[in-house]
Amino acid sequence: MSRSDYQLFTRETRAIIFNLQANAIQRMLDFDHVCKREKPSVAAVVNPNAKQGGFHKVFWGTKEILIPVYNTIDQAVTKHNDADVMINFASFRSAFQTSVDALHADTIKTVVIIAEGVPERRARELAAMAQKMGKIIIGPATVGGILAGGFKIGNTGGTIENIIESKLHLQGSVGFVSKSGGMSNEAYNIISHNSDGLYEGIAIGGDSYPGSTLLDHLLRYEANPDVKMMVCLGEVGGTEEYRIVEALKEKRITKPLVCWVTGTIASRMKGEVQFGHAGAKAGASNETAEAKNKALAEAGAIVPVSFDDYGEKINQEFKKLEAAGKIGSREETEVPFVPVDFKTVANKVRKPTGFICTITDDSGDEPLYSGVPMSKVVENNMPLGEMIGLLWFKKKLPEFAARYIELVLRLTADHGPCVSGAHNTIVTARAGRDLMSSVAAGILTIGPRFGGAVSGAAKHFSSALKSGLSPLEFVNDMKKKGINIPGIGHRIKSATNPDIRVTLIKAFAKENFVSTPHLDYALEVEKITLTKRNNLILNVDGAIGVIFLDLMESCGEIFSDQEKSEIVEFEILNGLFMLGRTIGMIGHYFDQKRLRSALYRHPMDDVLYDLPDSSDLGYDF
Ligand code: ACO
Ligand code: LMR
Repeated sequence: MSRSDYQLFTRETRAIIFNLQANAIQRMLDFDHVCKREKPSVAAVVNPNAKQGGFHKVFWGTKEILIPVYNTIDQAVTKHNDADVMINFASFRSAFQTSVDALHADTIKTVVIIAEGVPERRARELAAMAQKMGKIIIGPATVGGILAGGFKIGNTGGTIENIIESKLHLQGSVGFVSKSGGMSNEAYNIISHNSDGLYEGIAIGGDSYPGSTLLDHLLRYEANPDVKMMVCLGEVGGTEEYRIVEALKEKRITKPLVCWVTGTIASRMKGEVQFGHAGAKAGASNETAEAKNKALAEAGAIVPVSFDDYGEKINQEFKKLEAAGKIGSREETEVPFVPVDFKTVANKVRKPTGFICTITDDSGDEPLYSGVPMSKVVENNMPLGEMIGLLWFKKKLPEFAARYIELVLRLTADHGPCVSGAHNTIVTARAGRDLMSSVAAGILTIGPRFGGAVSGAAKHFSSALKSGLSPLEFVNDMKKKGINIPGIGHRIKSATNPDIRVTLIKAFAKENFVSTPHLDYALEVEKITLTKRNNLILNVDGAIGVIFLDLMESCGEIFSDQEKSEIVEFEILNGLFMLGRTIGMIGHYFDQKRLRSALYRHPMDDVLYDLPDSSDLGYDF
């Protein structure tokens, strides 16, 4: 046997994982880390369910790295020709075809089939195919195997703590093979306590027709000079162990072999006993554990009396090899620190958060709006205005306040296609843009002159009232400062063409609020501005803003002074117009799309062209 025949894995071995098994991949990489491997053992992942490839994020020690993901085995093997192992996590339904595909990839030498329940006929086909191609199959129904200190298949060896405890991150001299993956973990622990540790361990899987046999692996260990002794764990059922007996007799196995066939308890039970594995039942007397243990002992294997003295027997053989000077010394290097996953210690550590949210909590079963479960909002048919109160102000607003918010939303929902916001939404939609862009264009138009004067009106009127300015003093003061009073004036609405929206909300305030000092003040201001121009009315923005100030007063203790001033300062009141008008903008966008409206170009006869003369700029063409 050449080295490449007996040596399946090295510290450089890389694998392609079929099916995205995040935990198994992370365990492989954590093992790499404690073994101080230079390159991750996982080269790529094949995820046939992904719409397209991409990357899978994993930890490599303390930092995060990306592992490429492909849709097909073909893509993965072509891109990663340094990977010669495929670990196949396909289900039993697709394990056959995917294993065939992997076997046919030139670069893949070993295929590990994890799935249980692969049909026996298919398993035999795979074994024959692999043999013909000079490749190795481990499994089906296996957890895999491990080269101590070098390469680990999937979940073999269990947790990282278990691996370190059993010293699997360091290479020893014992070659191990068993059918069972679970029992392998136990055996690795026993081996680590009774020898210089494991060299390599393989679980061939519990099916009746494994892709590679116990003997196949023992013969590899026999040929490998780094393996000084062998340990095997057989199982009741089948005649596989008799092939080891023959190999012992024919001296094809010469290294010390400690072997135990489990399932001796079966003979003390009445009738046929089926253990966990598909192949673990004795169909004939020579398939019993006793018969196989006896034959192995007669052929020269070291067979313990029971599983209890398995370790002792390993220890005795190892000591003999040590005494004969056949075991080299093993350097016990410090184990690199393996960080624990945050989720496993989340209750035991403190981590400062980078984000604060005080309105909605979505960490439980359902979102809470200021503590109110979303289902209660629905069950109680909570008015929209009240719900906005929870999310904007973190308050249960009184009924009149919630109704005021809804009234504003209704009144601001739309004002036709000619107003600045809708116009821009329409122009953008007609330029072929999408819903978000078109509506965003409209919303971005809301500002101090159009729709966004609500907060400004609240700010100026409240500070004027607070500072005791008479309405006339306020108007003059603003004029002196050269500021148009926010909330005053409208392009088309005037004293003779009143704005119905303003009429309606004024009436609402008068009817529902305890008092309306801000509105009254604004109406006094309007009287003055109307003397200057007919269109300098208290406009819809102004009315919404000043009436909201009165609303907060009418709510009693609900809003503190600080909250009132923050609501004004942080422009929340402009949000009322913005929220309402978004309804209309979405409507205008859809309207234009439905109409299949063409690109809008502003008519040139509507533009006054008044350019400088180029000679005045110093050109001499
Ligand atoms: N306060 C004081 N004077 C004003 C105001 C005002 N809010 N608005 C206009 N004026 C005066 C101007 O100073 C100007 O005076 P002048 O002739 O002595 O120079 C005259 O009125 C005309 O000004 P324009 O800006 O041409 O008036 P227009 O009718 O085009 O303005 C507009 C309409 C933009 C709404 C304007 O009144 C304004 O800026 N108002 C404040 C912002 C505001 O409230 N916008 C919201 C409008 S409602 C809505 O968009 C839903
Ligand atoms: C609106 O609500 O959009 C209007 O008041 C603005 C306008 O220009 O008519």
